[in-house]
Amino acid sequence: MKKLSFANGDTMPILGLGTWKSKSEDVYNAVRSAIEAGFRHIDCAMIYGNEEAVGRALKDAIAEGEVSRDDLWITSKLWNNSHAEDQVVPALQKTLADLQLDYLDLYLIHWPISNQPDVLGARKAADFISREELPLTVTWRGMEQAHQQGLAKHIGVSNFAKHHLKEVLDNGTITPAVNQVELHPYLQQPALVDFCHNNNIHLTAYSPLGSGDRPDSMKGDNEPVLFENEVIKDIAAAKNASPAQVLIAWSIHRNVSVIPKSTNPGRIRQNFAAADIKLSSEEMARIAGLDRGRRYVDGRFWEVEGGPYTAKELWGEE
Ligand code: A2P
Repeated sequence: MKKLSFANGDTMPILGLGTWKSKSEDVYNAVRSAIEAGFRHIDCAMIYGNEEAVGRALKDAIAEGEVSRDDLWITSKLWNNSHAEDQVVPALQKTLADLQLDYLDLYLIHWPISNQPDVLGARKAADFISREELPLTVTWRGMEQAHQQGLAKHIGVSNFAKHHLKEVLDNGTITPAVNQVELHPYLQQPALVDFCHNNNIHLTAYSPLGSGDRPDSMKGDNEPVLFENEVIKDIAAAKNASPAQVLIAWSIHRNVSVIPKSTNPGRIRQNFAAADIKLSSEEMARIAGLDRGRRYVDGRFWEVEGGPYTAKELWGEE
């Protein structure tokens, strides 16, 4: 398994298990199956509402001697309602308690969006806190404290565009280790990928398979389906692989970490095996031609009347 390296010598397995949308009652078995299949990187978040079940699976896998804590790479994310400087460490401590861990390998700011402390799902303007009131650099200071206290070996961000990253790079002490964003052949984001790589920031691709199991409220009409793309299907057929495996292998070939979500043991094994699939430069070029700037997680759910956030600002499109 290819790994991505950090300045202190730590390495992150490039392929991880995604847990967004995995129900608590399914994620225990998913994590156990993933570890059995060979996964050593699990991507979590408080807002997924399933960290307690992930934690039980990790604890049991370690207790049964299947894996040691040192072998695992566990990522989690700070939710929008804990962005004040002094809220970051307590939020991380709650996640650590749920995951039954002493430390995370990586802790990310989930979104460059702040909510009021008592609001999980912001629906109206008053639920949010604007960037002016609570700058990203303030949240980043809290993240740096989490790192200094040894609670997170690495700290990073998610859903950050170039202008958000620059704010942290210009004002922070620690460079974000990772930016986790949506990446797949329909949303290749070459400028953001280059910017991150030029600034020693690794990327993790979320929704690498197109997240077909998103809630309907996040879906548009007649969405393009990655699995049905003719180029992806053609390359998959030529390799006796599945379209999902080609999508995973494509990310790995870009040196971008990738976290396909599955709760199905067979598909979890299949996804792990994708790390062994080799794509030629010609196949990579064919896939490069598929980019259409298509987001499946379009951020418009943060836009409310009179609210401080817009999808355009979020993705740096204005
Ligand atoms: P399931 O959990 O039943 O396997 P993403 O990682 O982009 O969010 O996509 C997750 C979706 O893709 C889920 O619906 C998941 O279903 C499905 N999925 C995961 N792995 C595969 C695979 N190898 N083949 C087909 N669908 C898959």
